[in-house]
Amino acid sequence: MKKRCYITTPIYYPSGNAHLGHTYCTTMCDIFARYKRNMGVETYFLTGTDEHGLKIQKNAEKAGITPQEYVDKIANDFQNLWKTLKITNDDFIRTTQERHIKVVQEVFSEFLKNDDIYLGSYEGWYCVPCESFWTETQVGENHVCPDCGRPVNKASEETYFFRCNKYLDVVLDDFKKDKFVYPISRKNEMMNNFIKPGLNDLCVSRTSFTWGINIKENPKHVIYVWLDALLNYISALGYKSSDDSLFQKFWNNDDVEIIHVVGADISRFHTIYWPMFLKALNLRQPDRIFVHGLLMTKDGKMSKSKGNVISPMPLIERYGLDAVRYYMVREIIFGQDGQFTADQFIERINADLVNNYGNLVNRVLSMINKYFKGIIPNYKKRVNEKDIKLDSLIDETIKEYITLMDDLKLTEAVSKVMDLLSSANKYIEESTPWALAKDESKKEELEIVMNNLARSIFVSTMLLKPVLIDSNEKVFNFLGINNVKFSDVYDKEFLNNNKLNPTEILYQRLDLNTELEYIKEHIKSV
Ligand code: ME8
Ligand code: MG
Repeated sequence: MKKRCYITTPIYYPSGNAHLGHTYCTTMCDIFARYKRNMGVETYFLTGTDEHGLKIQKNAEKAGITPQEYVDKIANDFQNLWKTLKITNDDFIRTTQERHIKVVQEVFSEFLKNDDIYLGSYEGWYCVPCESFWTETQVGENHVCPDCGRPVNKASEETYFFRCNKYLDVVLDDFKKDKFVYPISRKNEMMNNFIKPGLNDLCVSRTSFTWGINIKENPKHVIYVWLDALLNYISALGYKSSDDSLFQKFWNNDDVEIIHVVGADISRFHTIYWPMFLKALNLRQPDRIFVHGLLMTKDGKMSKSKGNVISPMPLIERYGLDAVRYYMVREIIFGQDGQFTADQFIERINADLVNNYGNLVNRVLSMINKYFKGIIPNYKKRVNEKDIKLDSLIDETIKEYITLMDDLKLTEAVSKVMDLLSSANKYIEESTPWALAKDESKKEELEIVMNNLARSIFVSTMLLKPVLIDSNEKVFNFLGINNVKFSDVYDKEFLNNNKLNPTEILYQRLDLNTELEYIKEHIKSV
C-alpha cells in the first residue's frame, strides 16, 4: 500500500443543480477517502466545478445574468451540498479561479512552443451539450451525438489541434496495465470504439463563443473546455505555482496512488486524452481511472438535460446520511449501472441496517447488560467449533475487506461486512445464550459467545465507518470505546472488561407503504 493517496471526482458542470448522480460519485470517493485515512494513508480528496463552455454561456444568457454570476451561484450550491452531506474533500477547485486559469494558459503556451499544438481548421458535427465535435460516420444518418443521442449541428472553425498520434504510445502502455482502466469492460470499449479506429488530432480551441480561458497568443480563441477541465487535477495541487508543495507530495511522487473516479460518460477524456496531456508535460500517469456506472430512472439515464434528475435532499432529510450512503454503496454495484427505485431503497435499509446490523447491536448489548451487568467478558480461547468459526470469520472479513477496498470494490467490501453480521445473527440462534445463562456450569461458554458477538459488532462498525458516518460513533459509544483506531480490530483483547453505555435503537424500521408514498410525492421521476 502506498503511503499517500490522491483521489478525485470529476469536476461537475454547474449548468444545473447537483443531482443524485453527482452525489453518488462524490459519496463513493468520500467513502474511499475516509477508508484510506482510517488506514493511516495520507489522503488528498479533490472535487470541484467545471465552469466554462458554450452551455454555461447559453444558460446564463437565458437567465439574464453574466456567466460568472451564473456559475458563482451554482458552484456555491454544490459546495453547500457537500458540506451538508459531510463530504470530506480537502479542496474544491473552480475552473474560473485565477489559480486554475494561469495553469491552463501556461500549459497551452508550453504545448504551442513544443509543437504539441498547431493551428488548423475544422469542419464537423458539433454537439453543444457535450461540447464535442463528431465525424460524419459517428453522427450517422440521423445526425445525432453518439454520446448523448441529441441532434448535432454542422460547424466549421479555425481551431488549434493537439497532436494525438505523437502520444499514442503512452495510451497503449497505460492500457496494458491491469488496473489502469477499471472495470475491464470499459477498457475494451475505449480500445474498440476510439483507439483501434485511429485517433484524430483533438480540437483544443473554439472561436464560436467567448466563455472560456483565452489563448494568450491568440485571444479570439478560448481553450477547449476539456483541456481546461482536465488540468484541474494538477492546478488544484499548485502545479506551476510558487508554492507547489501539494503537487510535489500528491502528484510528482511515486509514493502516491493517484486515482480518478469518473462516470462512464466521460471515460474517453480521462483514459485517452488526459494521459497524453500529462505525457506532453512530462508528468507521471495516474494509477487508476475508475469508471463508475450511471444511475438510471425509468426514463433512462438520469441527466440534467433530460430533466429526470433526482435531488438527493428529500432522501437525506428523511432517511439521514447513513441510509443514503449505505444504499448507494451497497445497492448500486460500484462500476456498474444501477437504477434508483423506491422499493429497493426502503427494502435495502430495512434488511441490512435495521434487521441485520441494528438488531444485532440491540440484541447483543442487551444480553451483555442482562448476563454480565454491562461488562464485556474478556477474550478467551475459543474451543467449540462454532465459536472458532465466528472468530476466524472476523479475521477473514477484515483481510478481505481491505483487499477489496484497496481495489475500489466498495460494494463487495461492504457486502462482506454484512455477511459477517448475518453470521453473527445466526450464531446467536446456534449458541442460545438464553439457555447458557440458566446453567452456571456454562458461564465460560456464555462469556465466549458474548465476547465473540461484541467483537463482531466492533469490527463491523469499524469496517463500516467510512460509510455509516453518523452511527459509527454511537455504536463505539454503546460499546464504551473512545479514541478508537483501525488497528484496534487486530487486538483481540481490545474489548476486555469494557463497560457498556446506555443504548438506543440504531435504525428505525421503515414502513414500506408510507415511505413509497413519501418518495413518490417528493421525487417525481421515480
Ligand atoms: O462531465 N449517474 O460534468 P457533469 C451517476 N464537467 N453519475 C452521474 C450521473 C448519473 N446519472 N450523471 C452524472 C462533466 N454523473 C465534466 C467533467 S472532469 C475533468 C470534467 C456523475 O456535470 C458522473 O461521475 O456532466 C459523471 O461522469 C459526472 O457526474 C459528469 O458530470
Ligand atoms: Mg454530463
